[in-house]
Amino acid sequence: MDFKNWYDLKARKIDYHLNLYLPESHNRQKKIYESMRYSLNAGGKRVRPILMIAVFEMFKPNEEASIMPFACALEMIHTYSLIHDDLPAMDDDDLRRGKLTNHKVYGEAMAILAGDALLNKAVETVLQNQTSMNLSPKIILSCLEMLMRSSGIEGMIGGQVVDMFVEERSKDYLEYMHRLKTGALIRAACQIGAVAGGASENEISKITDYADYLGLAFQVKDDILDVTAVESELGKPTGSDEKNDKLTYITLLGLDESEKLLGQYTHQAIDSIKHLGEQSYRLVEIAEYLLERKK
Ligand code: IPE
Ligand code: IPE
Ligand code: MG
Ligand code: MG
Ligand code: MG
Repeated sequence: MDFKNWYDLKARKIDYHLNLYLPESHNRQKKIYESMRYSLNAGGKRVRPILMIAVFEMFKPNEEASIMPFACALEMIHTYSLIHDDLPAMDDDDLRRGKLTNHKVYGEAMAILAGDALLNKAVETVLQNQTSMNLSPKIILSCLEMLMRSSGIEGMIGGQVVDMFVEERSKDYLEYMHRLKTGALIRAACQIGAVAGGASENEISKITDYADYLGLAFQVKDDILDVTAVESELGKPTGSDEKNDKLTYITLLGLDESEKLLGQYTHQAIDSIKHLGEQSYRLVEIAEYLLERKK
């Protein structure tokens, strides 16, 4: 199957399962279900869950059902991070995934609660679907620990803190921030896929290197798109970083240098897994797709 069809198929399966794990509700708090489902279904690229599945299937082909609860849990956490990232107290943006941001539709209070609830729902999804996963309880716990740690204060949340309260405009500081705010979830996607798939220590280490370079490349590209993309295509506001006087690759190094770094990190990501053999070809394709993406 060619890459695009493969990717779209995985994305549709993730969409399907997200709706299965978080169906509509008609009870008194139905509004929060609506708000959570609004952002979940707004049309994200699903990069993180697809990465997790791609790594998992290197070791356990055609067994994606066993990793689906983790893949969806990660997408729920990522989506909550975006809802909160867009709030007036943070980046104050009005557009996300081609639609009005959550707080613009449901109000700030509901957006905060919907983000919180997505984090709960992520953990519930894993714990409630253990029997369908065909993984040992020990592996499930260890993957859950990775998921929570990577989205916490030494991961995504920590990165958001460093982003909001910049103390130093240096490349070192910038990379520290990006490793946490964006890199950590991408790393978790790959590591959970590898550990659940039963990869060896050596394989996990190479996949982790891949993930770390890919995470850096991902945020460089995100920073580039903030200044070069067409808003209608990007699905979120361009110029948001400038508006907020953010520390980014662009503000620190300029566009040309950023493009160079993007190519370099992508190359290093691909290089990290080349010795894993033919089974890693989807990871190479994902890295190439992310390099060229327009949104
Ligand atoms: C955007 O992530 C936020 C960053 C970490 C840079 P994505 O570019 O994966 O956003 P969606 O999920 O496709 O909307
Ligand atoms: C946010 O980075 C990363 C998150 C953890 C949500 P950005 O603020 O650059 O993400 P976008 O550009 O709004 O998607
Ligand atoms: Mg931000
Ligand atoms: Mg933002
Ligand atoms: Mg950005």
